Amino acid sequence: MKRVDDFRLRFGKQELVPIMIGGMGVDISTAELALEAARLGGVGHISDAMLPTVSDRRYDTDFVKEKLKLYTYNLDNSDKSAVKFDLGQVAESTRLHVSKTMEAKRGSGMIFINCMEKLTMNAPRETLRVRLRTALDAGIDGITLSAGLHLGSFALMEDHPRFRDARLGIIVSSLRALQLFLRKTAKLNRLPDFVVVEGPLAGGHLGFDMDWAKYDLHTIMAEISQYLQTEKLDIPLIAAGGIFTGSDAVSFLENGAAAVQVATRFTAVHECGLPEKVMQEYIKATEEDIEVNTVSPTGYPMRMLKNCPAIGSGVRPGCESYGYLLDASGNCSYIEAYNREVAAHPKAKKISVQDKTCLCTHMRNFNCWTCGHYTYRLKDATRRLPDGSYQILSAEHVFRDYQFSVDQKIALPD
Ligand SMILES: Cc1cc2nc3c(=O)[nH]c(=O)nc-3n(C[C@H](O)[C@H](O)[C@H](O)COP(=O)(O)O)c2cc1C
Repeated sequence: MKRVDDFRLRFGKQELVPIMIGGMGVDISTAELALEAARLGGVGHISDAMLPTVSDRRYDTDFVKEKLKLYTYNLDNSDKSAVKFDLGQVAESTRLHVSKTMEAKRGSGMIFINCMEKLTMNAPRETLRVRLRTALDAGIDGITLSAGLHLGSFALMEDHPRFRDARLGIIVSSLRALQLFLRKTAKLNRLPDFVVVEGPLAGGHLGFDMDWAKYDLHTIMAEISQYLQTEKLDIPLIAAGGIFTGSDAVSFLENGAAAVQVATRFTAVHECGLPEKVMQEYIKATEEDIEVNTVSPTGYPMRMLKNCPAIGSGVRPGCESYGYLLDASGNCSYIEAYNREVAAHPKAKKISVQDKTCLCTHMRNFNCWTCGHYTYRLKDATRRLPDGSYQILSAEHVFRDYQFSVDQKIALPD
């Protein structure tokens, strides 16, 4: 019977344990978590979501305060088009996070950064360009392009000295999305080094509509793999979404996947950025407590715990401090939903917005509890303590369980 450790992910001459811990914004997949994956010989991800605020929390900068000071005059204005990011600060926060993480790296694995196109930041091209290029400057091993089609992202890095040696890949949820990306990047004569195929059971934003349940990761993997063979394209495919045990992972590796990307099992480990109280909510959750909804202003469905504070909250839009989801014209669908409720309840001290959420504010404060479909199985992967809470594991324990377990077994902690 095979186990994950019988396989290797190959990037050129480098051989890795074929386990990637997926990017989880905003600082849920911390540097500490990514560093553990690299130390254990796999691939870890930090996230580039909202790095100025992450940098304030981790490295004692004042980027959010400075931005708010500049735009305080606009707080009561529903037009947010004037609220721009200082590209120098975006670059500095990226440089700090990436370089400090890479300096601490030990072991034979790699650390990538997850870069979401949907963080349009009121200047999509310019801000994405700075984020991608600064991550390369600061020594990141690779970049995983996510949450968007990224048709122009390779071109934004084309003339960077590391464009051909850094590992660059993309997350897709369909063959069509991959074909669009490959067609668009063909003229750059540079294939992605890996493609993460993310199925409908993943956490975070989904690359599916609300009919996500009709889709199946094995089927999408087979379709994409067939296409690459026909086109004679040798690109490692990495399966993601709902891979909960080592045996689940082996079922993909035996079918030709080069690796798996996993995340949900790492939401309840010490190195994860979620506060421990929130981790307990994840572990406690039952299947009925989890939903896929459309409250994210990005337009993508998102899976989350139904009882998370982000759902129904009517917090004032936080664009003067954050504003990561403002599109190229300075709009965000939460602002519209919020203004509609304020207009409908002029006397109310507190309003509730049901159809959208202020994702920036709530992700920043760990109040948007996005999670994978199998979050309800986390309780089977740990022990209940005498006080009724659940034991939080180490990332190493979970990583090694994926690496060495067989027969659908999950190793419980000592
Ligand atoms: C809490 C959480 C946050 C996530 N945030 C992101 C994100 O910011 N960007 C992204 O591309 N994927 C995100 N994901 C998706 C993961 O990187 C990963 O591909 C997926 O969840 C794997 O499936 P699994 O959770 O069932 O193992 C997130 C997943 C979780 C559980």
